[in-house]
Amino acid sequence: MEDKEILEGRQGEVLERDQNEGSNASKKLYIESYGCQMNFSDSEVVASIMNENGFATTRDVDEADVVLINTCSIRDNAEKRVRNRLTEFKKKKEDNPEMVVGILGCMAERLKKSLLEQEKLVDLVAGPDAYRDLPNLIEEVGTGQKAVNVLLSRDETYADISPVRLDKGGISAFVTIMRGCDNMCSFCVVPFTRGRERSRDPKTIVDECKDLFDKGYREVTLLGQNVDSYRWNITNKGAIKDENLPTVNFAELLVMVAEVSPELRVRFSTSHPKDMTNDVLHAMASNENICNYIHLPVQSGHTDVLKRMNRGYSREWYLERIEAIHKIIPDCAVSTDIISGFCGETDEEHKDTLSLMDIVAFDFAYMFKYSERPKTLAERKFEDDVPEEIKSKRLTEIIDKQLTFSLASNKTRIGKIERVLVEGDSKRSDQHMSGRTGRNSMVVFPKGNFSKGDYINVEIQDCTSATLLGVAVDNDSE
Ligand code: 5AD
Ligand code: SF4
Repeated sequence: MEDKEILEGRQGEVLERDQNEGSNASKKLYIESYGCQMNFSDSEVVASIMNENGFATTRDVDEADVVLINTCSIRDNAEKRVRNRLTEFKKKKEDNPEMVVGILGCMAERLKKSLLEQEKLVDLVAGPDAYRDLPNLIEEVGTGQKAVNVLLSRDETYADISPVRLDKGGISAFVTIMRGCDNMCSFCVVPFTRGRERSRDPKTIVDECKDLFDKGYREVTLLGQNVDSYRWNITNKGAIKDENLPTVNFAELLVMVAEVSPELRVRFSTSHPKDMTNDVLHAMASNENICNYIHLPVQSGHTDVLKRMNRGYSREWYLERIEAIHKIIPDCAVSTDIISGFCGETDEEHKDTLSLMDIVAFDFAYMFKYSERPKTLAERKFEDDVPEEIKSKRLTEIIDKQLTFSLASNKTRIGKIERVLVEGDSKRSDQHMSGRTGRNSMVVFPKGNFSKGDYINVEIQDCTSATLLGVAVDNDSE
């Protein structure tokens, strides 16, 4: 069950940490994040904006003046979870009517005023491009007005904002490199909630990574809905915008970040099979500190389904990209996203997803049942006609297959020495620490004299489908 939870997705984690930066902070902000890594990263931008305006973050909701919940709309169950949480906050407000409750992110953008006016669940609604306006919106709530800003922008990247890091670890950070998505996959609500694609100034990205390194961070994950279409100073049609400025594509950006320090690991997410170039793969192969790990969502193994999904590639194209990865970067781990029971999916089409999994042997996968989302192309064009029990049955088959591949992938590491970046104490045992390999596998090993942020060698002795187990070897500080 636990594996199923892990494999089924990233949604629902809650992040709330004490941060008392900003000496003038007199009020308290409690912030909770759901959904993708981008939301967690956005919450750090929000914390920074609020910090500048006199709010320190707290992990105790009961002492908060403002409660913000950063939300996800990708599947219906993600929204249900947030609604339950908002109902809990509404009850808290009965004891503390002064407390301001606001909704941020994709659900705010999708539902706009309705959470405020019809359902009366929140005092404030701010979409993903409206976070600079939060201090004003909070003031508006104070004067009894309806505080809503869901304007989407063509150029907001929050490039100049230095995020307040909300994670406890201090080793690994998310760095947003672009916002929005222009792809219009037919099942996906993101283009409607996060707007048009725009890339962030590479100088600000590199500066942020340098600053993180100087503060002791040893890993950055560059984030975008489709990082392969990162382009600075280039229009969508490929023309140069400003002749006086350099152009930068994603492969070039990766190298710029990798050059911050050989001791800084560089990861990125998410790649798109239709846009992932060999240049990116060559950049990975020739820079030791760009991790050998690619998250390349396939969604389905059948070309007709991919067409209905408007993914812009075929089964054969995807398999060719996988071949290119293995050819250019030997020993690269690959993970994916798979949706079961998309509109019109036949048994044959589903079997082709299973057969593609057999060919690729993914090291890890996030697997979901199709959930129809309002306004998307699929909702308008196709019928959500695969019965719930068939969606579930197919998902179980997909998950069962993936578990065998995840276990097999981990077993191939037994006996090998892996370079591990130590992240901290293991969650399950205070006698152990944990960290990750470049291939993004979690490794647990007995505690030595190691510290967070050390790179150590670990000999892998055993594994589960989710974790490698080993002992540290040949390290200076043993
Ligand atoms: N239903 C199910 N899964 C979805 N995803 C996106 N939209 C939907 C949907 N409507 C999945 C895709 C995507 C991942 C982030 O979420 O697999 O890659
Ligand atoms: Fe959604 Fe497709 Fe954009 Fe990913 S690439 S955010 S699945 S529209």
